[in-house]
Amino acid sequence: MRQRIVAGNWKMHKNAEETEDLLNELIQAIPTDCETRVIVAPTFINLAAAADHLEFTNIEVAAQNMHQAEGGAFTGEISANMLKSVGVSTVILGHSERRAYFHETDALLANKVDTALKHEMEVIFCFGEELKDRLNGNHFNVVENQLRDGLFHLNAAAWKNIILAYEPVWAIGTGETATPEQAQEMHEFIRNTINKNYGNAVSENVSILYGGSVKPDNAAEIFSKPDVDGGLIGGAALKSEDFTKIVLA
Ligand code: G3P
Repeated sequence: MRQRIVAGNWKMHKNAEETEDLLNELIQAIPTDCETRVIVAPTFINLAAAADHLEFTNIEVAAQNMHQAEGGAFTGEISANMLKSVGVSTVILGHSERRAYFHETDALLANKVDTALKHEMEVIFCFGEELKDRLNGNHFNVVENQLRDGLFHLNAAAWKNIILAYEPVWAIGTGETATPEQAQEMHEFIRNTINKNYGNAVSENVSILYGGSVKPDNAAEIFSKPDVDGGLIGGAALKSEDFTKIVLA
């Protein structure tokens, strides 16, 4: 079901004590009757404590990644079953930093998506073009290929557990936020692409988040666009005041 969602991707920030402090601040700051879904994604080491800490609040927890295998000799990795065992049922997959630094391909991500769905998890699937793609006018092709190769093997029913996060790589961590018009243009393209492949029962019900330098002073205008259903927030998620302003934008 299409929802308004603001998710905070904490990346490799906040140790155990800092995580507890930030969660306490967010619990105090975010209204319990907030209509927007609020999700935070601490690092693996803090997930179990965060899930416990947030259990009776309106703030949800997500993992930033997971391995595609059920288990085995994969040093340093975390499985879906392990995440579920500590109360984590949402996972971010395909973030551009994992695609770039850890060479995660669309085919590997399709495999990770299948494993997450098999374990009845919800997936926040990230994708987006690089600056060179946009500068040469290839950004729509790149995004369509990422969607097709990462998700279009799924049947229509599986999409109830998919949240999309369009994150133009050139806007991540740079302060170079996409304009609201650029965000709307691509989100509309994404929704139309899904409609062509699955029909509007899927395309009208999938939440499409924007990520890439969302801040308190630009969130409201971006989120006001008809095909933008919220945001995936990086840097601004690490400060309770900023993240709360974005949630309430
Ligand atoms: O996953 C969200 C993140 O990539 C966006 O980062 O710092 O540009 O908000 P930031």
